[in-house]
Amino acid sequence: MSALSFTPAPWPRRLRSQEWYAGNSRDTIYHRGWLKNQGYPHDLFDGRPIIGILNTWSDLTPCNGHLRELAEKVKAGIWEAGGFPVEVPVFSASENTFRPTAMMFRNLAALAIEETIRGQPIDGAVLLVGCDKTTPSLMMAAASCDIPSIVVTGGPMLNGYFRGERVGSGTHLWKFSEAVKAGEMTQEEFLEAEQSMSRSSGTCNTMGTASTMASMAEALGMALSGNAAIPAVDSRRRVMAQLSGRRIVQMVKDDLKPSDIMTKAAFENAIRTNGAIGGSTNAVIHLLAIAGRVGVDVTLNDWDRCGRDVATIVNLMPSGEYLMEEFFYAGGLPVVLKRLGEGGQLNKDALTVSGQTIWDEVRDVVNHNEDVIRPLERALTPQGGIAVLRGNLAPNGAVLKPSAASAHLMQHRGRAVVFEDIDDYKAKINDEALDIDETCIMVLKNCGPKGYPGMAEVGNMGLPPKVLRKGVTDMIRISDARMSGTAYGTVILHTSPEAAAGGPLAIVQTGDMIEVDVAARRLHLDLSDAEIAARLAAWTPIHERAASGYAFLHQTHVEGADTGADLDFLKGCRGNAVGKDSH
Ligand code: FES
Repeated sequence: MSALSFTPAPWPRRLRSQEWYAGNSRDTIYHRGWLKNQGYPHDLFDGRPIIGILNTWSDLTPCNGHLRELAEKVKAGIWEAGGFPVEVPVFSASENTFRPTAMMFRNLAALAIEETIRGQPIDGAVLLVGCDKTTPSLMMAAASCDIPSIVVTGGPMLNGYFRGERVGSGTHLWKFSEAVKAGEMTQEEFLEAEQSMSRSSGTCNTMGTASTMASMAEALGMALSGNAAIPAVDSRRRVMAQLSGRRIVQMVKDDLKPSDIMTKAAFENAIRTNGAIGGSTNAVIHLLAIAGRVGVDVTLNDWDRCGRDVATIVNLMPSGEYLMEEFFYAGGLPVVLKRLGEGGQLNKDALTVSGQTIWDEVRDVVNHNEDVIRPLERALTPQGGIAVLRGNLAPNGAVLKPSAASAHLMQHRGRAVVFEDIDDYKAKINDEALDIDETCIMVLKNCGPKGYPGMAEVGNMGLPPKVLRKGVTDMIRISDARMSGTAYGTVILHTSPEAAAGGPLAIVQTGDMIEVDVAARRLHLDLSDAEIAARLAAWTPIHERAASGYAFLHQTHVEGADTGADLDFLKGCRGNAVGKDSH
């Protein structure tokens, strides 16, 4: 057995919900009486844990479209364990609809949900999430309030198939779209393929950002073991929801909080896990933001240090061949965590929501398919962790996902072809007169947290048609943007400081030479210091900032990608203390 450092709180004791419901004062009768209009008997207000099921269901967040059904199973578990469930709809930042980009609203959602928890009689929270931004936003909110919380994800969709081949969410959208541009696929075939992409309820079926963040929640210890990979429509997903409902009630009684679970050791586990699964680069930003909320010092250096010697062993798209359904059948994330533990790459004593250590949860699991979860000697990428590059082009860092990149481009010197913003890119990329070939380095500016605004997933710029027609499928691309977790390529992202904040990226010009050396972690603009200083002195932003509304708040307060792109005034844990009633 591994050592447990957590000591459960004594029970029974007075919970925070009793601030609203204990006694018979005018205010208590006001609060309790209103809730009774839902038909709740008086004895339910006897001091038992009130559990908020924070539900990100929305018709416009289709990845989370089945979460109301799942909430019923969570409720059943809470009732069984002697708790009092209340389902609360919360801000749902859908990846596939929100403009300018869902990422701009991750922090707004986290702010709204933090106050939804703090301002209401909730003793513990079930975070019912799925789509990319919903998982980090709720985890950030729970960390800021630090009340007992458990993550339940909606699970991935079933495999897609088109003409007998697996079709991965997002990954094949990029592939098919490039094939159309290269003249290898017709528009009619592309439309036919669309029908095969989303076969069931659930999140993206690749190891995209949703699957990555579900895996991060499990590796951090914030979800029950095995949660990440169960398909959305598998009956075991509903069992997981019910068991999580049971578990949160005991977590409240024990006072087992996010700050007890999400320690530095837990973040190190998550970072290594991300390398092993070939996870999304978006996990870098989200984990930095969650750590910032719970008050744990995690930096880009931790990503490079912990990820350096981690092999990518999960053979899933976009890095590999399979999809989440096969990952589940092979044994899912517990098998990966066991592998890391056997290799000395897991902090085994890290606590999980189960009350057990992470090692106790995974030590006895079995790998059922060694082609899906590979042994180390057949790893997809021996050094699979996120690489953090630095240099005069990225003083605060930039990231690259080695498992999705091309080996021949990991050390390269090329001529920059610059796009000032995403509109400039769209206007030029299909122009046959564009002076570009596969040895060039594509540079996209003004797509960072302040610049886009919101830091859209446009870093994996499609290649020029004239390059694609040669059969070339990858070029180095550099930007201050993010990349979809379902995307692939030698794509250098999150370049910090961003162009819109006056980072060196802002002064790169077409024709400049850039050197990339991933092994040396180097990203260098081949100009003298004096030339860079002169260009920076003459630089002015090309876009005006928003003058009002949330965009103004975001652009004024958002921090750089290198520290998680949170709003500066939301960092840190503010606790769950409640204020006074106004009536
Ligand atoms: Fe929602 Fe992929 S777009 S999970």
